[in-house]
Amino acid sequence: MDTSALKQMAAEAAIAYIRPGMVVGVGTGSTSNLFIDALGKAKIAVEGYVPSSLGTAERLRSLGLPVLDLNSTGDIPVYIDGADEIDPHFRLIKGGGGALTREKIVASAARQFICIADSSKDKPRLGVFPLPVEVLPFARSFVARQLVRLGGSPVLRENFQTDNGNVILDVTGLDLGDPVKMEALINTVPGVIDNGIFAHRKADVVLLGSPQGLISRSAPLA
Ligand code: 5RP
Repeated sequence: MDTSALKQMAAEAAIAYIRPGMVVGVGTGSTSNLFIDALGKAKIAVEGYVPSSLGTAERLRSLGLPVLDLNSTGDIPVYIDGADEIDPHFRLIKGGGGALTREKIVASAARQFICIADSSKDKPRLGVFPLPVEVLPFARSFVARQLVRLGGSPVLRENFQTDNGNVILDVTGLDLGDPVKMEALINTVPGVIDNGIFAHRKADVVLLGSPQGLISRSAPLA
C-alpha cells in the first residue's frame, strides 16, 4: 500500500470523532487535506470548522464547509491534525508544512487532539525529522546562533513565509530526549514565535494507517 492510502485510512477513521453541532479544529498538511475531503463527503451538520492555516481555510471553503474564527468560539471539543513524528508517549514533531504555531494554538484550545498519520510517522523517540522553529524575520540570525548553542544546526527554509509573516528554521542535531524541556527552552529565545515540538500539548488519540490495517491508540487519562 502506498503512503497516501495509509494516510487516507487514518483520515477516514477520524470522521467517527465528529458529531453534529460540534466546533471542530482542522489541521494542515496532506493527511489533514484527506480528512477535509472526507468531511466534504460525510456532510455532518457541525457548527463549523476552525482552520489551523490559510490553506486549510481555503480547502474547507472550496467544499462549502463552514469556517469559524478561533476568536468567535470557546473551547473546541476536538482537533484533528497530522504529524511528522509521533513517539510512544503521544508527543509529536509538527510543522513540516510550516503551520506549527496556529496548529499548536488550535490544538491547545481543543479538549481532545486526534493525530492522524501513516505508520511511517510512528517513532521510538523524536528527533530525526528536522525541528521546524517559527522565527520573527528580524531575529533570524540571532535565533539561529542560540539554536547552535543548544546543540542544533539550523537551516533557513528557502522561499517560505508562514501565514503569520515569519520564517522557519529547520533544526537538526538537537537532543530531544526530554521534549517537554526542549520545547520550553527553545521558546525562551526572544524572536522565537513557537517550535514544532508538541510535548506540552500532545495528542490524546493517535490513528495510524498501516499496511496491517488501522492502529488506534489512546493516551491514558491524566
Ligand atoms: C503542517 C504539519 C503537518 O501535520 C505535518 O507536516 C504532516 O504533514 P503530512 O500530513 O503532509 O504528512 O505539521 O505544519
